[in-house]
Amino acid sequence: MLRRTPTNAHSRCTSMRVLVTGGAGFIGANLVRHLSANSAYDVVVLDNLSAGQRRPIFPRGVRFTCGDFTDKATMKECLQGADTVVHLAALSGVIDSVEDPCPSFEVNVAGSFQLLELARAANVGRIINASTGGALLGEVAPPISEETAPCPLSPYGASKLAVEGYCSAFAGAYGLSCVTLRFSNIYGPRSAHKKSVVAAFIKSIIREEPLVVYGDGTQQRDYLYVGDLVRGIEAALKRRPTGVYQLGSGRPTTLHTLVATLKKVSGRDFRVRYEAGRSGEVHSTWCNIAKAAREFDYNAPTDLEAGLRTTWSWYLENRDIWVRQQALSASD
Ligand SMILES: NC(=O)c1ccc[n+]([C@@H]2O[C@H](COP(=O)([O-])OP(=O)(O)OC[C@H]3O[C@@H](n4cnc5c(N)ncnc54)[C@H](O)[C@@H]3O)[C@@H](O)[C@H]2O)c1
Repeated sequence: MLRRTPTNAHSRCTSMRVLVTGGAGFIGANLVRHLSANSAYDVVVLDNLSAGQRRPIFPRGVRFTCGDFTDKATMKECLQGADTVVHLAALSGVIDSVEDPCPSFEVNVAGSFQLLELARAANVGRIINASTGGALLGEVAPPISEETAPCPLSPYGASKLAVEGYCSAFAGAYGLSCVTLRFSNIYGPRSAHKKSVVAAFIKSIIREEPLVVYGDGTQQRDYLYVGDLVRGIEAALKRRPTGVYQLGSGRPTTLHTLVATLKKVSGRDFRVRYEAGRSGEVHSTWCNIAKAAREFDYNAPTDLEAGLRTTWSWYLENRDIWVRQQALSASD
């Protein structure tokens, strides 16, 4: 097996240059703020602004390229001097991928394959690949773990599984150091463009519209506060684990409990409308986080009520920004 040592000129400097693809997105924006507050990291962002912030504002010192990671020349340029790539950019809509499976293949699979090829050629030291738990593993008895056999129910889940396979292959065949982190259901500030349940519910409450629950509300999810997730990603940067890890809260929560907690946190009375469940979505999923806890001290200390309080406050305080943002998206 070939092993590569990072030979980028930059890796001889004291700070680690981290390229974050999708750094203007929900998780990316939170990660970039977290890492850039620490002088140990020199943060570079590549994002085509196809989702989320249309006019992103990055913390001082962060370099931003507006471009497509599937574009070879752009990707090559951004990889220059990068020690680590945190690969977050993706088409992440499960329902969108069910409606049309082609874009998630072209961007998530073919684009990420090219990224790995270019990273190998550029002697990048390490890849952190963002993957998913529930959508990739399908309808299996929870808790899910790294041992659970994958059986995706949506093209999005299948695309993430394919990229995990290539990460494993590039590690095995070429010695490219890769870790795949399977995120659970992430919520938190800077998620206003997301269609995920917490973001959708909070926006509905603020607009005084009924909350729409698909199914009977007994579905379970593993809601992870984004602040805990970015600390987990940083731990994976520092401790350099390889292979696959579940990053979640390790706790199941039903939709009924989520709704009740949002009632408590918001102090508002709202209506809930029940509609038929949607295809491509698993009924219940939550994860066992013991492997990440054991191997790089990952933990998720923020409980649902505390995480929702911070998220609710962010939505109220930034209402002007996200309402304007959504108006911009709607006019695209
Ligand atoms: N949010 C979650 O709950 C969750 C759960 C599991 C996995 N993930 C994974 O985490 C990653 C980040 O998710 P997120 O919630 O922040 O999504 P997001 O949509 O908010 O962010 C993705 C970012 O990638 C950018 N992007 C998309 N295609 C691009 C391209 N071709 N070139 C350059 N930039 C591009 C978008 O503009 C956006 O800013 C994704 O890979 C997603 O699949 C997220």
